[in-house]
Parts: sequence; structure tokens; C-alpha cells
Amino acid sequence: MRLPVYLLASACLAAPTTAPALDWAGLQPLAAVASVQRTAAGLDLICADGATVHVSVLAPDLIRVRALFAGQPASLDHSWAIARTDWAAPPWHFAETATELSLTTAAVKVVIQRDPLLIAFHDAVTGRVINADARPMARDPATGRLAAAKHFGFEEHFYGLGEKAARLDKRRGRFVMWNSDTPGYVEGRDPIYQSIPFYLGWEEGRAYGLFYDNTYRTTFDLGHTGQDYAAFGADGGELNYYFFAGPSLKQIVSRYTELTGRMPLPPLWALGHQQSRYSYYPDTVVEKVAEQYRARDLPLDVLYLDIHYMDAYRVFTWDRTRFPDPSGLMKRLAEKGLRVVTIVDPGVKYQPPVPGAIDPATDRDLASSHESYYVYNEGLAGDYFLRQKDGSLYIGEVWPGQSVFVDYTRADARQWWGEGHRALTERGVAGIWTDMNEPADFLDQTGERHKDIVFDDLGQRAPYAKHRNTFALLMARATYEGLEQLQPDRRPFVITRAGSAGIQRYAVKWTGDNNATFDSLALNIPMFASLGISGQAFVGADIPGFIGRGDGELLARAYQMATFVPFCRNHSAIDQYDKEPWRFGSYYEGIVRKYLKLRYRMLPFLYTTLEEAHRTGVPLFRPLLLNFQEDYNTVNLDDQFMIGDALLAAPVVRAGERAREVYFPAGRWYEFETGAIIRGGTTLRVDAPLDHMPLYVRGGSIVPSTIAMNYTDEKPWNPLRFDIYPDDAGTANGSLYEDDGHSPDYKHGAWRRTTLHFANGQLTLTPTGTHAPGVRNFAIVLHRAAAVQQVLVDGVALEASAWTRAADHSLTVALADNGRARQLEFR
Ligand code: NOJ
Repeated sequence: MRLPVYLLASACLAAPTTAPALDWAGLQPLAAVASVQRTAAGLDLICADGATVHVSVLAPDLIRVRALFAGQPASLDHSWAIARTDWAAPPWHFAETATELSLTTAAVKVVIQRDPLLIAFHDAVTGRVINADARPMARDPATGRLAAAKHFGFEEHFYGLGEKAARLDKRRGRFVMWNSDTPGYVEGRDPIYQSIPFYLGWEEGRAYGLFYDNTYRTTFDLGHTGQDYAAFGADGGELNYYFFAGPSLKQIVSRYTELTGRMPLPPLWALGHQQSRYSYYPDTVVEKVAEQYRARDLPLDVLYLDIHYMDAYRVFTWDRTRFPDPSGLMKRLAEKGLRVVTIVDPGVKYQPPVPGAIDPATDRDLASSHESYYVYNEGLAGDYFLRQKDGSLYIGEVWPGQSVFVDYTRADARQWWGEGHRALTERGVAGIWTDMNEPADFLDQTGERHKDIVFDDLGQRAPYAKHRNTFALLMARATYEGLEQLQPDRRPFVITRAGSAGIQRYAVKWTGDNNATFDSLALNIPMFASLGISGQAFVGADIPGFIGRGDGELLARAYQMATFVPFCRNHSAIDQYDKEPWRFGSYYEGIVRKYLKLRYRMLPFLYTTLEEAHRTGVPLFRPLLLNFQEDYNTVNLDDQFMIGDALLAAPVVRAGERAREVYFPAGRWYEFETGAIIRGGTTLRVDAPLDHMPLYVRGGSIVPSTIAMNYTDEKPWNPLRFDIYPDDAGTANGSLYEDDGHSPDYKHGAWRRTTLHFANGQLTLTPTGTHAPGVRNFAIVLHRAAAVQQVLVDGVALEASAWTRAADHSLTVALADNGRARQLEFR
């Protein structure tokens, strides 16, 4: 059997599935502190061997440590990951003794032992040691390898590290950062697509964060090798890290995303259901899929065109036979409320023109590229392609065959690449899917063949070893900035497979070539949760799995989970069975429809939570630990998750399972479908027949929702429903965020936030902001309201006909939104 190319590619992957240990041989520790200089931002420690360690205060809870070893080649103090550099050092205090130096802010006391040079971070208020060096930082002068080691706590647990095919708690794990194309990965495969060298440590309810800002191949050994330390090290670059004092996990994630940038708000349609396959063609097939969705009353917002829409995989071209009229196709789909996202791969076909052939002046994307390919010609003319040390072009192999790759560290190359998307946006394409950006190369997936490639990197001529991991970040940046310029009135939508720290500024993330298996489905939860607390709030996986066939049961369970996953896309590999929701029969299709409709009903809640992630960095999809940080029962809990602060989902992730255990943290919980109350602080076995996902609301929440619809702009949110779920004290809080859903105007204040507060039987609803949502009604639903006899709105008693009771003891009040603050009283 001839294997599809992507599987052949995976077969070439020589990388071991477990990472090598951190090797201390040859590493030389920093010498003792010989003198100290105070600077505006902190301390410069001058070591006896000539090394310097800069300890800088960026914020009371954010300290940067940058060690420059003796003999280490000088490099720019620049990082492609960092979004914010204009920190104004807050007040801090310096003290010294014969053996120690210290620097104290309002939150953290950095204690520096002079000999050997060891740094410890203490809580400035309680004095508790948050985190401390176990060894001095070290470097191998022969190879440039670096390492740092921290004490490893008996009850220290680790989180984050971005995309890892691993469980939530990374304690005792060892992980490598080296972007890799890993189709069909399973739990334990490492590394996979992304590299986010940021982790959070947790001990006795208190957390800290550490971002090792280094893009070379990096290893984290979080107590894997032994009890002695939790360590990290890289093959090159600098020992340069940021320490987040915490103790709140949310605060750390927020600070980390302040440092490396937050996700811009995607368009509302990005929360809609999306359908892909490798590949839909010709155009008539795309339209048939669209027709089926509408005929079957299945919600859908987006269709994807995978690599076969291009002319022989030449990026920024169209296959004229399969897609003779892309603009017409987009227009017809738009009439059905559908948008199109096209894939864009980094490999540009290496194609010197046939002598005498020239590119047409217009419609180059639709013309035959057989004799001359305008993208290659332009890239070569601008000298945008990566070259090797000897000046030759680097030629690898991807879908078009021999291919060249852009040096995205160059601003002019990024500008050119961004502009290239005009071939797609001018035809009506709404978003871009950047794939194969590890970058994948069928000739070698390890990077060995690429080591002589040189990146411009602000004129520094940096090696491939530094830039493999930044390649996707900078390609996504070029794409995002290009879309901003091409469509200034729309929010860019870019989805990426690979990435490194900061990627959330430019692209949302899907987890690549997963498997259509229950094991893969189970792995989604820790993967999404870890990505979220590593700064990437908009994540999702192929539903029900890219490789393999799956079955109706898997499809149903995958959609139940995906109901509350930010990125909700069905996708399937080239040689795999079709996986659209109807392909396994009407019973399973019915379950998918039920959950997709629920997702669309919950759009007001999802969008509000998305905006919170954009504004604060705190993700939508959360491990329970993020909300219940002091509850030890959540440190290793990764088969259930929270969406925002309000919803707890416990999807079934095992074949044949029709009941499961659910952990409820302390407090009052409501069963979503029945409104039944559950007392928290316990683990319960709950029913989960195939058409049901256990879903709960945290007491104390007010959850906005609306009517079901088949695409996000099909109908306005009318009526807008607010479900009040009081806690044991009879209080509840919530909010709703709204804007126009598609333009960047939200950045300039064009939004509306409605805050809701319920206490002592009184609800206040307070809108702020300039966005005007239009005429509409509210449905206010108070749960457990059996005792209520009278409802007053703004002090006036309502006729009994204006409110209704339901069998689940809830009471619904209908009223018009007059755009002003309202007060409701339930007596
Ligand atoms: C690999 C991607 O991960 C997959 O989603 C896509 O379908 C194929 N490349 C083909 O473009």
C-alpha cells in the first residue's frame, strides 16, 4: 500500500519519543558575586569570573533574571516572544550582608547568596520561600549549553509548558521544546508541534510562574531524573528567565500574557462550528457539504479548503479546474451564512521560470503557474528566502515537491508574505490556516539537515537552532499583520499548528493530527487546559480525530466535549472516512445537533468568556485548579474542566461508558439540564447516557444565553436570557459582553458590558459602554425560586402573567431591554 505523504513524513521522524535527560557534564557554574551595582531597574551582579547577572524588577510580582556568562558571545537584548518592554520599575528596597544581597518589592523578596551564587524568591509578606536555586546557573563554554536548577518540593506540582501530549500535572515529567510535525501522536510523544517554555509551579495552594525566554532546543526536567531539582536548560542562547511570584494562578497567567501579549478578540464567527477535510474539491463538493448542513438543520459557520484548492500546491494560487470561480463560490456560500478559511503552507515551490516565461500582470493567482510562478519569482527578487551559510538557497521538500522557505525574521519579507494573502482575501476568503509551520520538511523532520540555514534576525545572522521554534510565530505574525492591512475593517482570523511563546498575539491554535480514538479525546482536556494556562486561550482539536475512522459513539462524545471548546472544527485526513456529523447515521447526528444547538445558545456566555480571556489572559477552557487553586483534589484532575468561572463539564472520554465520577469542589452546584442542586466537596457517580454530557453550573453564577441558530449572524441575540443560580448565601454574579462581532472597533471602546448582581432577592442589571445592540427582550430566569410570590421591576409589581414558573422550580421574567440599568426584586 502506498502511504499518504503525511504518514511517510511521520515515518521519517527519527526523534525519540522520550526526551534525553538534562546533562550536567561540561557545564561550568557562575562564580561567586564579587561586586554589585544598583541600576534603575534592579541589580547587576558582577561575578568573580567576569560574568554578569542582571536582576530586574518589572512589576512587584515580576522579576527578570538574565545571566551573561564570561566569554559568552554578545547578542542583542531582544526576544520575538516579548510584547511588553516598557515596564516602569515599581519601588524596591536593597539590603546586603556579608553573605547575601536582597531586593524587595511589595510582593517578592529576591535573596541572592554571594557564594555560591544562588537566587531564592521569597514571599515579601510572609517570608515563605516560593522558589530557590538548587545549583548556580551554569554554561558549557565549549558548546554554549545552559542550565538552571531549582529546588523540587515534595508537594510541588507543575503546569503549563504549552502544547504537550501529556497529562495536566507535569510533575516528574521531562519535556523538550523543538517544534515537530508529529502526525498521530499519542500521550507521551514529545516534543510535538509547539514550544512554550513557560511553566507554573504549585505548592500548598500557592503558585509561581517561570518563563525561560529561549527558543533554542530546551529541556525541562521537572523532577524526572530525581528528587534533587526541577531543572531547565537549552542548547544555546541565553539564560534569561522571568519569574512570576504569584501566588494566584490567574494572576500569573495574566502577567505572563501581559509580558508575551494577549489574544486579540477573534470575530464572533470563530466561535461557530467549522467543517474541514483534507480536502474538499472541486467547488461543487464544497457546496454540497454546505447544502447538507443547511438541509439537515445542523449549525455551521465556516468551511475549510485544504491544500487541493491550490494549483499543484503552489501557495497563493488557485487550481483553475477545481475552483474556476473562487469569488463566485465564496459569494454563494456567504448567502448561506458561511465563510471560508484556506490553508497556507510555508513551503514555496522551488520553480525557476522556463526561459522567456513571464508572470501575468493581473489575476496571477488564477493563471497557470506551470512555466512561471509569481510567488517564487517575487520572493527570489526580494531575496526573502532562507539561505545557508554558503549563500545557497535552502531547498527542502513539502507538498509542492522542492520548496523554499521565507525568512520571517525580516520585516520586508513579512510584509511581502502578508500582502501575498491578497490572492485569497480578494476572492472572499475570511481566514487563514497556517499549517506545516514547525517547519515540516519531508527530507528531515529533526532539523539536522537544516543546521546551516541562517536567519537575518535583525542583522545578527542567527542560526537555525535559534529559529526553528520561532518560525511559526513569525509566519503567523506576517499573516496576521497582512490580514490587518488587507482587511482593516475586520478582525484577522489565523489558525496555526506550530508556535512559540507569544503566538497568541497572532493566531489561534488547533492541536494538529490527532487520532480518532477515545484516548486522543481524553488527551484533549489536559492539552487544552495546559495551552490555556500557557497563554493560548483559543484552542481546539480536530473532531472526532484526524487519523483513523472512529464511529458514531466517538463522534457523539467528541461533539459533547467540543460544545465548550473554543475552536470547534470537524476535520479528517485525506485517506480517511468522511466524518461530517451525518455520516454515522441519524441517531448520532441527532446528538451532534443537540450539542451544536446548545453551543449556539451559549454564544453570549462563550463570547463573554472569550473577551475576558482577551482582556485578562485567563482562558475560557480551564483546569479546575485554576478556579479552585487551594483544593488539592484538583491538582491532578484532568478529565473534567471549567468554562470560565461558571460551567463545569465532565465529558465521557471512554468507549462504552454510560456513567462516570465527577468531582464537585466545595459549594453549591446546579445540574444544567434539570436545575437539581448538588452539594460540592465530593465525588459523585453520575449518569451519562450517550446523548448526555454531565454539565453543571457553579452556584453564584449568572449565565447569559440566547436562542439556538444555525450560524452566528443568522439572528440577533433576542431574547437574551440570564440564568441566575444563587449560591448558599443567596447571591450570584455575572456579566455579558457585546460588540459588533467582526470589526476591530472594540479596541476603541465600541462595546457594551452588562453586569448583573443578585443578592437578598434583588437583581441589578447595569449596562455600560457605547455599543447599541438594538431592540430586544430579556428573559431573566431565577433558579430555585419556588418561594417567590411577587416580582417587582424597577419598583413596580409585575402582573402575574409577566412571569412563568417551570417544573424545575425556576421562574422566568420577560421584559424589554430599555438600554438602561434595571432592578428586579423577587419576593
Ligand atoms: C497537516 C495538517 O495537520 C492537516 O490538518 C492537513 O489536513 C494536512 N496537513 C494537509 O494539508
